[in-house]
Amino acid sequence: MKLFLDTANINEIREIASWGVLDGITTNPSLLSKEGISLEKSIKEICKLVKGPVSAEVISTDLAGMLKEGRAYSKWAKNVVIKIPMTIEGLKAVKILTKEKILTNVTLCFSANQAILAAKAGASYVSPFIGRLDDAGESGMTLVEEIVQIFENYCFMTEVLVASIREPRQVTEAAIAGADIATVPFAIFQKLIAHQLTDIGLKKFIEDSKKIPKK
Ligand code: E4P
Repeated sequence: MKLFLDTANINEIREIASWGVLDGITTNPSLLSKEGISLEKSIKEICKLVKGPVSAEVISTDLAGMLKEGRAYSKWAKNVVIKIPMTIEGLKAVKILTKEKILTNVTLCFSANQAILAAKAGASYVSPFIGRLDDAGESGMTLVEEIVQIFENYCFMTEVLVASIREPRQVTEAAIAGADIATVPFAIFQKLIAHQLTDIGLKKFIEDSKKIPKK
């Protein structure tokens, strides 16, 4: 499974990229609004740091606007993926951009039927938002399992990108479900590596290593 970082913060991206396990980045307007930098500057800077796919979301909601923004963003760097909302206009935009060989990520996916439509339109990625579904009293992970199964049944090439992750266990569950990618917030990424038994074990090994005769 690929691991993306869900942020527009350059320091967070630098840190996780330095671990050597970062496969890509997802951003959204809310994340970008925290950084005080324009969308274009942010995405261009991120694309210099990360070789993998970098999702940049369109702001327009009409077809012409989405196409204009998508085509413009795709010229910023080779690894830009155009993030498009799960709407009728969005589906049309995905179909057209896909024909133009521009990669797309259909965002705000909350049902298996929406994922089927995104795949049929030719989306490169579809993003089920599991945390927001859980918040609404539904099961985000059940949705991921359904989408993975459906895409397998019909050999859809669209990759399942699990988004809106709130806790480390969801990364494990996404992997068990067979999702292609989990996009993980910085704070959760740090929790992926942490385990108190690792800390306790390492401390003991370091202490005991001092008791080993030097010769
Ligand atoms: C991913 O593409 C989304 O930007 C993100 O995961 C949304 O997460 P949230 O529901 O925590 O805002």
